[in-house]
Amino acid sequence: MNLNFAETLSLAKKFKEKFSGFDKGEVAICPSTSALHEVGKILKGGKIKLGAQNAFWEETGAYTGEVSPGMLAEIGCRYVILGHSERRKNLFENYEIINKKVRAVVKNEKLIPVICIGESFEERKTDRRDFILVEQLEQALSGVKVFGDQRIIIAYEPIWAIGTGTAIEPAEAEYAHKIIKLALNDIVGMRVVSKNFSIIYGGSISSKNVKSFANLEDMNGLLVGGASLKADEFLKIAKEITK
Ligand code: PGA
Repeated sequence: MNLNFAETLSLAKKFKEKFSGFDKGEVAICPSTSALHEVGKILKGGKIKLGAQNAFWEETGAYTGEVSPGMLAEIGCRYVILGHSERRKNLFENYEIINKKVRAVVKNEKLIPVICIGESFEERKTDRRDFILVEQLEQALSGVKVFGDQRIIIAYEPIWAIGTGTAIEPAEAEYAHKIIKLALNDIVGMRVVSKNFSIIYGGSISSKNVKSFANLEDMNGLLVGGASLKADEFLKIAKEITK
């Protein structure tokens, strides 16, 4: 909720233009729900894909105020962020809710869920990070059947690094990604992990610190918040991480 409708469309146009010569990796932007449809029209035919910041777990029915995975796919969304720590905190999204959303999004083969997990500062301080990451993964993926080429992205976002301007040490991110990969191997099996899963990092990434995150083991990309509000900054980050 950082930009209004007009600001979002103007930024989307800049993104489309700046990324026109960019053909590495996979880039998506996830604007607010109110701007999704129009941004989708702007991005059409370009390199950047469209993503949403949330989805409901039912497809249709009397669920006032909600937007279903099918509705998102219908307007051209390819990605859906689920379980962001801000929603866990402000909207009281618990394990059950997030799991229902993951299952609903995975069922829609046009969509790729970006499932956010991450420990709080307190959990890190008391050495509970690994446990929390494993628990969040187990809960989010409980009963999820991964079919064929269905992709799932796990975003490791240490809550204490989001929006602070200071990312965590790259070595710490690398360690957390290793824990996540091992847990995924246990939950869905190694073959599925290597074929269907990606692990990305999020939390105060900028063009200044992105270099140190570029070549880490088990690092498949980034979830960028504040730095994605400026097209030049976002392009620099995209170029650096795909070098
Ligand atoms: P940030 O946000 O990059 O501004 O820390 C990340 C996020 O909200 O997921």
